[in-house]
Amino acid sequence: MSSDESIHAAAKAVEDKHGRRDVLMVNAGISHAPGTTREHYRQVFDTNVSGQAVTVEAFLPLLRMSTASSGKRIAFTSSDLSSLQWALEPKGLYSGVNFPIYRTSKTAVNMVMPHYARLLEHEGFIVGASNSGYCATNLNAYGGAKNPREGARVLIKAATDSKESVHGLVVDECGSQPW
Ligand SMILES: NC(=O)c1ccc[n+]([C@@H]2O[C@H](COP(=O)([O-])OP(=O)(O)OC[C@H]3O[C@@H](n4cnc5c(N)ncnc54)[C@H](OP(=O)(O)O)[C@@H]3O)[C@@H](O)[C@H]2O)c1
Repeated sequence: MSSDESIHAAAKAVEDKHGRRDVLMVNAGISHAPGTTREHYRQVFDTNVSGQAVTVEAFLPLLRMSTASSGKRIAFTSSDLSSLQWALEPKGLYSGVNFPIYRTSKTAVNMVMPHYARLLEHEGFIVGASNSGYCATNLNAYGGAKNPREGARVLIKAATDSKESVHGLVVDECGSQPW
């Protein structure tokens, strides 16, 4: 995600083997990075924001070759921590006092996603983002409350549900989350 060369090599490998791509789920992300505040921001944004956008750009020609009747699909990975509305709550799980760098990167993903949703909808693309909820993974030292399989289901939902349910939205288990 932090190497254009590697991302384009991945796209080339898919092109050589399949010639097209129907669904792109962009999931990789990090929550922390070593170094100064500036370096921490740079690395987290490089992976979570630039990496997701560069991956979409690299795979776009293959997605355009898709003949899937259900539409060409792109699903980004956001987070419940991305929501500005929830961050402004004075108390509670999502109050904006924690993880400012990670959550800022996910708020940025929430704007990258509608860019592609609007840009590509006339070509038959359906573009959304998922919020898996707090899952026990390496990202949070396995402190999350949910099984990662449940989180994966939300990403699959973002990549397969109807256009009305996901296009231009950040979806969670229940529906779409506030901006
Ligand atoms: N866990 C949660 O509670 C939660 C909640 C909301 C959203 N999310 C989001 O869900 C996504 C997946 O995270 P996770 O919870 O499953 O965490 P994880 O277990 O740490 O998995 C992160 C994945 O991203 C990959 N990755 C990280 N940096 C990369 C890079 N530069 N290039 C390529 N791959 C890279 C990792 O690959 P390696 O293993 O090879 O390093 C790993 O497969 C992330 O976007 C995260 O922000 C997680």
